[in-house]
Amino acid sequence: MDAKSGSNANLKTGKLTLGDKSWSLPIYEGTIGPDVVDVSKLYSEVGIFTYDPGFTSTGSCDSKITYIDGDQGILLYRGYPIEDLAEHGDFLETCYVLLYGELPTAAQKEDFDNRVVHHTMIHEQMTRFFQGFRRDAHPMAVMVGCVGALSAFYHDSTDISDPTQRMIASIRMIAKTPTLAAMAYKYFIGQPFVYPDNKLDYASNFLRMCFAVPCEEYRPNPVLARAMDRIFILHADHEQNASTSTVRLAGSTGANPFACIAAGIACLWGPAHGGANEAALKMLGEIGSVDRIPEYIKRAKDPDDSFRLMGFGHRVYKHYDPRARVMQKTCHEVLQELGINDPLLDVALELERIALNDDYFIQKRLYPNIDFYSGITLRAMGFPTTMFTVLFALARTVGWIAQWKEMIEDPHQKLARPRQLYTGSPRRDYQSISRRK
Ligand code: SDX
Repeated sequence: MDAKSGSNANLKTGKLTLGDKSWSLPIYEGTIGPDVVDVSKLYSEVGIFTYDPGFTSTGSCDSKITYIDGDQGILLYRGYPIEDLAEHGDFLETCYVLLYGELPTAAQKEDFDNRVVHHTMIHEQMTRFFQGFRRDAHPMAVMVGCVGALSAFYHDSTDISDPTQRMIASIRMIAKTPTLAAMAYKYFIGQPFVYPDNKLDYASNFLRMCFAVPCEEYRPNPVLARAMDRIFILHADHEQNASTSTVRLAGSTGANPFACIAAGIACLWGPAHGGANEAALKMLGEIGSVDRIPEYIKRAKDPDDSFRLMGFGHRVYKHYDPRARVMQKTCHEVLQELGINDPLLDVALELERIALNDDYFIQKRLYPNIDFYSGITLRAMGFPTTMFTVLFALARTVGWIAQWKEMIEDPHQKLARPRQLYTGSPRRDYQSISRRK
């Protein structure tokens, strides 16, 4: 049943009782997952707000895109298990599924790939943007700036009321983020930019733009390209996480899609969210060897120590993150292909083994999340830690765009504007400076 238009006949209701008064509140049920109680009229009818800092029990919208069952460790994109999409499809197929809601036919896939491939270049003027950044600028700072600046170039796809322009903007974002991400990396290491090669598949094109140099021929390693493509699939969308909620909130004001995605990139940067892959690898490096793990497990359990196991725990998953399993498998494939014996993988595997058998982590239901193995994999592929969250942002762009489009196309959507519990000073009189003590 659509949450907004379900017939009243079979509507479930809840009851709110305050003192001697009661109100009934509509309860909606989704296809799968928890029911929701509609409190949108609570303030107008009861005069009180709900209170849920961090939105731990708050549904901000209804959506048909991604479903997570945190207790079972299930992740579905439009109903398809992430494991199946990662195993059998490629990233552009996942982009199609997230945007259109169905698996593409062969003809639809060919057309979609072709549309994306023909938007991979960026306006040549944008290359001058990079000259304004310090060479050692964090690539995420460059991405926030450059993606936001796309709205200064693509005026023909910023009218959010035009479905054709919305789809062009979506295709442009999917196509251009790899080009911008590769340019941010090249600028960071002082090498010349490499233009996209439209004969290559999406992941191979990105690896070539990152690692090719003018003085040598570059042939993408198919094992690494497949691993990169699978890493993009794993990161593509994840329900109403912090950065997606940021994109939806920005989009609810009518801001153009490029500005909304730039807001999502800025939010993703934090170490509690998309910055955790960079933080997890730094943590594994700080632990350094298996014999030092108990010291860090002790610190992670100490309520007075702010240290946490980065890449562990999740707001929603209280079971193994299904993406982490695929990520661990991919990590082994990449290290084997490259003949790398990374001692940090030994530390990660032993840390996971110890934590999963420790009462603290069992009781708090803390499991490895997608960020726990991604850092080791990306470093082995040649990326510096500063690029890890950029790769997360590159992959998540399609999820942000799909969620943004769904919100814009929702006839019930409105400006997002939360309220608060005010605990500051009551009204008081202004004092002239001469009378202040
Ligand atoms: C991503 O939302 C998404 O979907 C995000 C994401 C996506 O795809 O978009 O999945 C990507 O962001 C994955 C998460 C990456 N972050 C990290 O790996 C950073 C380390 N993890 C923690 O910071 C933490 O687990 C959070 C922030 C991810 C989630 O924390 P919550 O849900 O706010 O829960 P909490 O912090 O209240 O923790 C519950 C308890 C606490 O103990 P008590 O205060 O109840 O005694 O578990 C403890 C925490 O101290 N705890 C940890 C821990 N994570 C939580 N203790 C040690 N190490 C950890 N990693």
